[in-house]
Amino acid sequence: MAEMTRKGLWRGVIREFGEFLPEIKDEAITTLGEGNTPLIEASNLSDKVGEIRLLLKYDGLNPTGSFKDRGMTMAVSKAKEDGSEAVICASTGNTSASAAAYAAKAGMKAYVLVPEGAIALGKLSQAMIHGAMVLQVAGSFDDALDIVKEIAKDHPVTMVNSLNPYRLEGQKSAAFEVCEELGHAPTYHFLPVGNAGNITAYWNGYKQYKDSELISNLPKMMGFQAAGAAPIVLGEVVKKPETVATAIRIGNPASWQAAEMARDESGGLIDMVTDEEILDAYRLLAVREGVFCEPASAASVAGVIKMKDKGVLNNGDTVVCTLTGHGLKDPDNAIKNAESPIKVTADINDIIKVMGF
Ligand code: F0G
Repeated sequence: MAEMTRKGLWRGVIREFGEFLPEIKDEAITTLGEGNTPLIEASNLSDKVGEIRLLLKYDGLNPTGSFKDRGMTMAVSKAKEDGSEAVICASTGNTSASAAAYAAKAGMKAYVLVPEGAIALGKLSQAMIHGAMVLQVAGSFDDALDIVKEIAKDHPVTMVNSLNPYRLEGQKSAAFEVCEELGHAPTYHFLPVGNAGNITAYWNGYKQYKDSELISNLPKMMGFQAAGAAPIVLGEVVKKPETVATAIRIGNPASWQAAEMARDESGGLIDMVTDEEILDAYRLLAVREGVFCEPASAASVAGVIKMKDKGVLNNGDTVVCTLTGHGLKDPDNAIKNAESPIKVTADINDIIKVMGF
């Protein structure tokens, strides 16, 4: 008789990595099975990146389509454990989608504040369908975050932005997975930087695995901001951030100092890439690698190409890029950046001619 080899299904990041995370009572754990995302070999980009080993941590394959789920399971579970009945966040889209879904699962109310007209359609649709109260603020993400911080101070709602420490705790799990899969840490870890929580979380995760003697090396952390929204690179708040990568359109990141620490302790850097470089990498990943991520996510790969051109990376280096969100989040940009569909009549001869046969 055949035998089943899998001993059990993936139980979500809290249960899988519980020994490395703050304790949560089992009955409060709110999970959608987040984590366990693939690390894909990018094998078709050697003309762009040379003979490095480039791996894509495709976190767009989380339950709501972004890495935010790793932290949201922790933050919402903790809020539930504490008896909270509502969560609130400001968001460029993904955090709001994730908060809405996990709050729905937990039976809690979600209030999400998003900059009006500046979040991708897929993300807005998620927050709406999960039943969050969606508040479109006539202002920026940074304005919305300031308001959320004030509201959470003296109202019965738990803030689930990454200033909530449980968010970054959960997000460390992506670094754990990379180590488990490779058996060591990569030479470099590239990722997009917006509010700067994720680069901080990864660095904490890698350090924790090293302290636990599960790995012996640490990666250099390489963060990339969009050129029109690059406060950390410029060393000053950007009042009117602008970029096609709306997810990282942030002028005053909450985890600014922590991200600088991750950069400096690891011997890495935080640099910027232009919208053109971001969109080039976005198309390249889709067309050559079969991986569809959202524009902000492609900032990591744009960063790799930029660093390779600058001579920073060496052949043989293991480079992991986090692709933070799924391409379906932002259908408008996909359609804008690809060939238009061709209208044909329902006639086989006509179609064959158009196909060029
Ligand atoms: N990539 C995507 C797809 C994101 O949604 C974000 C942040 C980032 C990268 C940057 O990560 O903020 O930890 O440096 N999105 C937040 C949101 C701000 O509201 O969804 P970070």
